[in-house]
Amino acid sequence: MATDSASFFRQTSVPDKFEERNQCIKSFVERHKSLQNRIVLVSSGGTTVPLESRTVRFIDNFSVGTRGSSSAEYFLDKGYAVIFLYSKKSLIPYTRHFVKIPFLDLLDSCVKNDDVCVRDEYRGEIKTVLQKYRQVTDEGRLLMVDFSNLTEYLHLLRASSQHLNSIGPQAMLYLAAAVSDFYIPKSDMPQHKIQSSDGPLQLELQLVPKMLEPLTREWCPNAFTVSFKLETDMEILLSKAKRALNKYNHQVVIANLLETRKTEVMVVTRDSDQWLRLSGEELASGTEIETKIVEELQKKHDEFRT
Ligand code: PMT
Repeated sequence: MATDSASFFRQTSVPDKFEERNQCIKSFVERHKSLQNRIVLVSSGGTTVPLESRTVRFIDNFSVGTRGSSSAEYFLDKGYAVIFLYSKKSLIPYTRHFVKIPFLDLLDSCVKNDDVCVRDEYRGEIKTVLQKYRQVTDEGRLLMVDFSNLTEYLHLLRASSQHLNSIGPQAMLYLAAAVSDFYIPKSDMPQHKIQSSDGPLQLELQLVPKMLEPLTREWCPNAFTVSFKLETDMEILLSKAKRALNKYNHQVVIANLLETRKTEVMVVTRDSDQWLRLSGEELASGTEIETKIVEELQKKHDEFRT
């Protein structure tokens, strides 16, 4: 049986340096509240579940944070302030454009002045991305908050959404992280590395409570909340998205299938469902589905605020 969210928080330790990060989030929200800016919390990446207290092994999932990191950029383009809550091992906005290239391949030595410079073929793209990055950081519109496991993620999600509650419908929660449904409570977790000499490993994981419930009811009830629904079976995708909306009473579910998540998603509300798809031409030109998602959500958020 699933524990309730309050018990989950009681059974797990407050993460290291939590208070420091909590204060950064609080000040970020206060500053943008005074500027009357819209703020979106983008959660991104997978949430690992440790098997040992001094963690050597953990359970992880497939998410690499493409959805979250690209969406954060498009929200920044639209003028939002962004709290980017991301797994340490996943992609981050702007830098993500260059992660497939080995770092040193981006550089050349400049013989003339005994210095290092960017290779000609990358200079244009780096300049464009760097300008955007500098602009949003100079304006103080991007707050990056990292987490390393499920517990850290959930403590930071609760803190962020509670701070965002102070701006009501000006806030959007965009919950794209792939959140684990199972965990090992602290009291059941071995302290030291599990020994293979003890034989085959049997694990019993407990259910993580669905945090959308306290989030939409208690932590941040007036925000525009967008959850995600990931399935591998098309037959159940829409019904599960609708069920989530009825259960948590929030505004939008972005429904996607594991294999096609980069080219099509369904935007589901209580009274509508609409596919967003990339055409062959858009795919060829490198357009990302997240531009369409963010465009659609901005419209819906505008309607919601008025
Ligand atoms: O990162 P990428 O590789 O780009 O992949 C993007 C993505 C596929 C991860 C993303 O598009 C996506 O679908 N994210 C949500 C995946 C997920 O957790 O789905 P779910 O059906 O298990 O959960 C549904 C919703 O419930 C989620 O919004 C989640 O925030 C929420 N949840 C989940 C578990 C839990 N214990 N509490 C929750 O509130």
